Amino acid sequence: MLYFMSATIAADPALPSWIAPCYLEAQVGTTMRTGAVVSALSHALDLSTGQPTGHSIRSCILGMRIAEEIGLSDEVRNDLYYALLLKDCGCSSNASKTFHALGSDDIKAKRDVKTTDWTRISWETIQYAFSHVAPGKPFLERSRALFRMALHQKQHTKDVVKIRCERGSTLARLMELSDETAHGILSLDEHWDGRGNPDGLRKTEIPILSRIMLLAQTLEVFLASQGAEAALAVVNGRSKAWFDPDLIKAVRSLARRKELWTHLLSDRAFTLGLEMEPQQKVMKKGDTTLDSICLAFAQIVDAKSPFTFNHSNGVANAAVAIARVLKLKRERILFIRHAALLHDLGKLSVPNTILEKPGKPTDEEWEVLRLHPFYTWKILAGIPGFREMSEIAASHHEKLNGRGYFRGLTAEQLPIEARILVVADIFDALSAKRPYRDSLPLETVFQIMRKDTPHALDVTCVEALQQSGIGCDQTFVGLQNLHDQLASYQEY
Ligand SMILES: [Fe+2]
Ligand SMILES: [Fe+2]
Repeated sequence: MLYFMSATIAADPALPSWIAPCYLEAQVGTTMRTGAVVSALSHALDLSTGQPTGHSIRSCILGMRIAEEIGLSDEVRNDLYYALLLKDCGCSSNASKTFHALGSDDIKAKRDVKTTDWTRISWETIQYAFSHVAPGKPFLERSRALFRMALHQKQHTKDVVKIRCERGSTLARLMELSDETAHGILSLDEHWDGRGNPDGLRKTEIPILSRIMLLAQTLEVFLASQGAEAALAVVNGRSKAWFDPDLIKAVRSLARRKELWTHLLSDRAFTLGLEMEPQQKVMKKGDTTLDSICLAFAQIVDAKSPFTFNHSNGVANAAVAIARVLKLKRERILFIRHAALLHDLGKLSVPNTILEKPGKPTDEEWEVLRLHPFYTWKILAGIPGFREMSEIAASHHEKLNGRGYFRGLTAEQLPIEARILVVADIFDALSAKRPYRDSLPLETVFQIMRKDTPHALDVTCVEALQQSGIGCDQTFVGLQNLHDQLASYQEY
């Protein structure tokens, strides 16, 4: 079996042996690198900010090169490494607010804001406002929206940055990363001259990690969009206003020696990023790191819109309930839980204009929606040892009769874990309270689901879910809670 734990890893006395959140390629027999998981999942963050794939990894490489150039210790660089990869993990939390404030596609707005200097009124800020504030709306409505934005722009920017940074910092702690990493993410948007957000910190009040992160992020955004020369010109132009002048000196000297951009835009970037992690953390059998990362990414996805609030937790709880009734092995229950927590990662690619649309999506919008399991698959398939996980998680909208998406798989191609996930996903979507409707009574939910059996949904899974006695349960269940729930569980 592809998805297995290595018997050679030392047991941790804190948790029972079946809790082994290390998915190992059996044929390779190696442990899983935390950096590999986080690097691959950072692609989901690139989607949510409209950046090209690999933006977070390339920012990480640039930041690590700058850190090495100024002689930071291994320990500090290790904190920086994860802060750089996860700098955008709070971004989904302000997506809805951004969409409502601008009345336009939040992902495009986030993409373009990274190339705009919002600290002063200029031609580029005016252009940004005209592109992103209520585009396509009637003249009067648009004029009002632009006026409102001009009036409240400073406060709005501060608010969205604050939500993003505070949430990002909380999520880093949930992923069991250090306080320094969390602080780095918290102050990412502070500027050297004190005109940044959210706290207007100045100069060395800003943590060194955040100073490097802002510089690395800016270099990457302009490198990817306008090339190396433009990237250097922008950071030189913003030196002393946005950036620590000593860090700019380090960038100049790396560029002079032609060591700044090496392999950044090549296929080697992922591997190169992994090589740059100073302490090369691995997940050991019995530790909780992977579970914590899955829980955090579930929250990142669910924060994208009030319409999906706590959905991934709900799907995970329902999927575990089904798996228990079906008496699956404990390690498979944990596998299903992780697949459920990560199943909608690809939703980070969908703008809130679609996710929060009150009416039916247009054909074009539906095409965007249908692609989200594909992105889930693509992201998870990039994690060594997650091949099976990527297949199961990305099958959550498939149907036994082949009428699902994104691949139109049929019954023979859908193993029990995928069938469980399909049923759990529909159950949570129907039973949860949504901003546009109250939760449906359980009898109605099961009536609707039964109508889709046995041709579309697996009848055994639907029956198991009903038998489990679960209601809509979107509570946050930590790994220790799961262990407690399964303490007297008898598996086959
Ligand atoms: Fe989905
Ligand atoms: Fe879902």
